[in-house]
This record gives sequence, structure tokens and C-alpha cells, in this order.
Amino acid sequence: MAYSAPDPSTCVLDAFRTSIAERVAAALPPLTVEQVYSGVDYGKKGVDFTIALPRFKLGKVEDVAAKVVAQFRPDEFIESVTPDKAFLHFQCTSTTLIREILTQVHALTHLTPSKIPSYGSNTTGIGKKVIIEYSSPNIAKSFHVGHLRSTIIGGFLANLYKACGWEVTSMNYLGDWGTQFGLIATGYEKYGSQEELEQDAIKHLFDVYVKVNKDADADPEVKAEAARWFKRMEDGDESALKNWRVWRAMSVKKYAEEYERLNIQFDVYTGESMVGKEWQDKALARLEEMGLIEDSGGAKIVNLEQWKMGKAVLRKKDGTSIYLTRDIGGAIERYEKYKFDKMIYVVSSQQDLHLAQFFKVLELMDFPWASNLQHINYGLVQGMSTRRGTVVFLDQIIKEAAQVMHEQMQKNEEKYSAVEDPETVSREIGITGVKIQDMAAKRINNYTFNWDRMKSFEGDTGPYLQYAHVRLCSISRKNPHLLPLPPPSQIDTSSLALSSHARDIVFLLGTYPDVVKVALKTQEPSGVVTFAFRLSHAISSAWEVLVVKGEEDIEKARARMWMYECTRDVLGAAMRLLSIRPLDRM
Ligand code: ARG
Repeated sequence: MAYSAPDPSTCVLDAFRTSIAERVAAALPPLTVEQVYSGVDYGKKGVDFTIALPRFKLGKVEDVAAKVVAQFRPDEFIESVTPDKAFLHFQCTSTTLIREILTQVHALTHLTPSKIPSYGSNTTGIGKKVIIEYSSPNIAKSFHVGHLRSTIIGGFLANLYKACGWEVTSMNYLGDWGTQFGLIATGYEKYGSQEELEQDAIKHLFDVYVKVNKDADADPEVKAEAARWFKRMEDGDESALKNWRVWRAMSVKKYAEEYERLNIQFDVYTGESMVGKEWQDKALARLEEMGLIEDSGGAKIVNLEQWKMGKAVLRKKDGTSIYLTRDIGGAIERYEKYKFDKMIYVVSSQQDLHLAQFFKVLELMDFPWASNLQHINYGLVQGMSTRRGTVVFLDQIIKEAAQVMHEQMQKNEEKYSAVEDPETVSREIGITGVKIQDMAAKRINNYTFNWDRMKSFEGDTGPYLQYAHVRLCSISRKNPHLLPLPPPSQIDTSSLALSSHARDIVFLLGTYPDVVKVALKTQEPSGVVTFAFRLSHAISSAWEVLVVKGEEDIEKARARMWMYECTRDVLGAAMRLLSIRPLDRM
């Protein structure tokens, strides 16, 4: 199945698909090239492309196939057609295939001005704006694995939409408002320390929160005091807001550093505190007008029972706002500000009901853009604890990943001593391991985190991917006599066409633009992970056969080196799409 209209300027395999479609359409009037094109699928193992004939409804498939076969003439694009029951299999002409794909990878990676997308990218989203909200931890509470998943998946989606031409705004919607801040403020008077705050704001606020929570459990007056404090905050009382402002700013600063470690960047740090009260009020007024609000002992409730979404509180008795109302008001406000074409919320499936409720409310309010909101959900992670216990903070996860990896690398003394900067390298590989484990399967699946698997260089793991990339990078370093390579038109690639290993690798490179398009359609990182592993496996099997060092035929050696360089570029691009920093050495 073709994933969009043909665009050979970004995906050269489209030219081969078009060539197939032209022949088949010519043999089978009244079919058009477009009709056939959408039926040209990738083939199973060993087959480049396949068409399932029944979809055209032209009668007996044997007769239909015979017509195509009778008219077929091999040329520089398509070499052969083979009928197989209801299918027609097509093989591309290897010499052209290899030359065209490598030339495109090279040109779009190294030669294009920055305006033209790099290899793998496309322009389908040009002119469209998307807001992607992800990570969104709660200040003074723990950063749990759910937040980590949101960070990883959201970071990937932001890269993906950019690669497809969209204008992306990455947004972090902090849990920086709510009664718990009244509680912390109350507790801070007793347990707060300026020094500890400056050392690690996230940790100190969490400690205060834990302590004052205990007090509140024992003494209802603490709770009442906290509620009064939060009311003052909601009313905009500057004396009640002063400390909170500092806490928020310091937490954001610390988070931004940790996200940078993870290679994740946000354009906007917003938060529940930033949602304008007027938007929430307007929303409530509108819902009241529409008769959707019920009064429940002073609290306002929206009744969504006819959509099986229960009843939800929108405003408490004391008039303070809550999570749901802030999300409703926040979405309206964001639309007014950004006029987005699409807005994505990357939030755990535990909040499916919450997201469904607030999307529903916006739909009931007749906002036409409500249908452009999307919840990207994901399953739970079990077992992500460090050797010191349960994970509470993001920096614990990063540290543990780095340490686990560092210990693993030290086991191979010889290799370890050759690593220039083991601290950075082990951290990068450790983070890669965590990310790959997270993105390897469908988002919605729960999975059990496993440090042993994460650190392994064998099997489909992060370290294995980094190793494959490093190996590809080492080729240029080990063969300086071949550098610089002549321009592509002067590299003789005919020897590659004779090797099934080379053909497999290059064909895979050719599919990368489709891998990106499919990922956008499914909004799943797993297909990109699978692609990166398939490519790494193809390299592993070619490695001993298609050597560069020691190949005396200089033309052959050059062609191979060029192929490996293109492979390095595409593997690197896939890893960067997954927010991984590919390493050159380890
Ligand atoms: N801060 C929330 C939590 O940790 C997640 C926020 C999700 N985004 C949203 N717009 N509700 O549970």
C-alpha cells in the first residue's frame, strides 16, 4: 500500500512503484496509474513489490496476470514480473535501485540547503501547526515512570511531526497548581530550608510535601489551613504566591537540565497555574446555559452519563478550580493563542476517562476544533526501581541507567580503557537502553522494565544499536586512504549489485521514508525501532563478507565504503528521530 501520493524527490522507491503502476495500467485498461499505484505493496521476503490482483475486480486473476506478463519488457527500473496465484511479484533492476537509493540518501543528507528536508523527511505537513503536550510532571510530587514514558513518546512525536513538515510546539504542562500547594506552603513554614531548596529544589519540595502530608493526616486543622492558603493563591494574593513562584522557577530549571540529558527540549513550560480564570469561567457559564451543569451541594457538576462518562466535578464548593476545569479552559486558551491544526496530549491510559471527559465537554460546547484534539495514551511500566528502591525522581533514573551501563562496560577491560570519556558514553548508552526498551513495543502495552536487558549489547537493545552505529563510524576512521570519496557519479556501484547483502541493506535504506510516514499514521515509535534493528542486523550479516579494509580492488572498496556511510547516515537519522544521540565512538 502506498502511504501518500508519489514523491520521488523524497522517496526514490516511489519512482519504482510508479514504473510498476504504469506498466500494469497500460496492460489492464481502464485502470489508471493512480489506481494501480495505491495497490503496489512491499513484497514478502526476497520480493521487492507485490500487487494483489483481486482488488482491481477485473475478472479471472490468471487471465489478468497473463496480460501483464505478456506485455512486460524489462528495463532499467523493473527487471522481472512473476505471477503467483492472485499476486504479481516485481523485482527492481539492482544496478539502478542501488545507485538511485544511495544517491538520494547522500544528496538529502549532505548536499541540500537546510530548507529541503533531510533524507527520510517529507513535506506532507507543511503549513500545519501541531501542539504536542508531554511529560507534564507535578511539582513537589514524584516523577514516576508514567511521566518518563510521556517524555520519551512525546519527544519522539515532536521529532516525527517536524520530519513530516509540521510546525511543532512542544509543551510541558506542569502540575504546578492545586490544593497541594496550599499544603506545601503550610509545611514550608515548618520544614522548609533555603539551603536545601537551592541544592535540589525538586527533592526538597517533595520532602516537605511528604512530611506535611503526614501532619495533615493526623490533624484536620493542617488541611483546613492548606485549603485557606490555596484559596488565597487562587484569589491572587501576592503574599501567598511569593514562595510558590520561586519553587516553580527552580523546579523548571532543574527539569530543563534533566530533559537536556535526555535530549528532549520544550518550547513552552506552561502549567495548570497559567490557565486563565476567565476561560474557565466562560466555559462554566456556557455549559450552564446549555443545561449540562448540575448543582451538588454547592459544587458544580457536569453530567456526561449519557455518553457513559459519568459525572464530573467542575468547581468545588469553595469556588476553587480543579484539574478538569483547567484542562477545558486551557484548551480554549491555547486555541485562541496558537490556532493549531491539531493538539496532542501524551498522557497515560490511566487518565483515559479524564481526557475523554474534557474532549467531550469541548465538543458539546460546539468548538469545531474539538475534533482536532487527540489523546496519545500508553500502558504501565512495572519494575522500574533502582538498587536503592523505588524511583521518585527523574535524575535517579538517569543516574541509575548511567551506572548500570558503566559497570557493564568496565567488565571488558581492554575495550573500556580505549573509551575516551566513559562517563558520557555510559550515560548516553544507558539512556538509549531505557528509551529503546520503552519504544520497542506498541504504546498501549504494559511492560516490565528490566535493567539486565537494557544494558545488554546482545539482542534488540539500545546498546546494540549504538554499537552498530559506532561500527559504521569506524569505517572512515580505519580507511583514511579511501578519503575523501569521489562524488557519487564517479563511484562505480556495479559490484554492490552482485551482492545480496548489499542489495538487502540498500533496499532497507530506500524504505526509510515510508517508515517515517507509517509512524506518523500510527503515531507509534515501535516501527522505527524495528527498522533500526532490521538495518543493524543487515549490517551485521554483511560485515564479514563486504569488507572495506583489505579489499584490494579500490573501486569495490570505495563503493562499499559509500554504502556503509549512507547506512550510518540513515541509522543515525532513525536514532535521532527516536530522540537518541548516536555515538561515534565507544
Ligand atoms: N500532571 C498530570 C499528572 O501527572 C499530567 C498532565 C496531563 N496533561 C493534561 N493536560 N491533563 O498526572
